[in-house]
Amino acid sequence: MTLPSRLPFEIIRDPAAMRARAEDLRRDGRRVAVVPTMGALHDGHLTLLRRARAMADVVILTIFVNPTQFGPNEDLSRYPRDEAGDLAKARACGIDLAFCPTAEAMYPAGSQTFVEVRELAQPLCGASRPGHFAGVATVVTKLFHVTRPHVALFGEKDYQQLAVIRRMTRDLDFGIEIVGVPIVREPDGLAMSSRNVYLSPAQRAQALALVNGLGAAEAALRAGERDAAALLAAARAPIEAAAADGGVRIDYLELRDADDLSPVAVVTRPAVLAMAVFVGTTRLIDNRVLKP
Ligand code: PAJ
Repeated sequence: MTLPSRLPFEIIRDPAAMRARAEDLRRDGRRVAVVPTMGALHDGHLTLLRRARAMADVVILTIFVNPTQFGPNEDLSRYPRDEAGDLAKARACGIDLAFCPTAEAMYPAGSQTFVEVRELAQPLCGASRPGHFAGVATVVTKLFHVTRPHVALFGEKDYQQLAVIRRMTRDLDFGIEIVGVPIVREPDGLAMSSRNVYLSPAQRAQALALVNGLGAAEAALRAGERDAAALLAAARAPIEAAAADGGVRIDYLELRDADDLSPVAVVTRPAVLAMAVFVGTTRLIDNRVLKP
């Protein structure tokens, strides 16, 4: 018997219903891809969905603003939410199913189990956002269990998150293929982010300092520079120039091994230049892998 090529679109909110549906899909022999998101979809997210569409029979989008990955002074309550707009955009990319649970359904009263990835979650965003990656690893584990995918796609924009999820998937024998998708940028180079909507026009201009910093470091590498301190100085210059106008502050700017995120002093193999920069109260991240 041949299966119908496409399923009618469906929104599921209940985790148990989602798991039952996912198990049916697997039993029918369909290859399932999942793209976890927190919504406020932009072309970065949609690129993941299109990539998923090309890799699987069934594409599941998850939209869940996960409270456990936000710190007490972060933007959980004001995080942009637009479910109807998100579903319209995602359906245009050919998704089959959207899983949009409530926080109460994902974390019923009494929840107390977390997934912790150790070394990889310590530096960079892990240092400035304590508990963030435990929240991410926990929710991604739950989303994996509920959607039962063969393949899951994540953006390289969140480089450390991707590394943490790859590690967790191996360490805990999830048996899911993890696919990383290159950073999608605005025409002027700013990495797309749901948080870009927080930026005023002046801050939007200042935010270009991040990608300019990455470009400056890449240019220095191309000119033969291999010393981490010199590469970081090159990356820092445009950001400090923007900071001179006020309201811009570097949270971190580091060069680390592209695989295990250990510190790098001299670039002899691929290294990731990763940064988090506050523009006003908005914290932006960006990165580039430097390949000698
Ligand atoms: P969110 O920030 O909504 O991002 C969802 C996915 O889109 C992530 O894999 C992220 O890396 C990817 N993404 C975001 N901006 C991108 C860009 N400009 N180019 C390429 N990919 C991009 O990341 C999360 O949600 C959450 O932490 C989540 C994994 C859903 C767990 O709650």
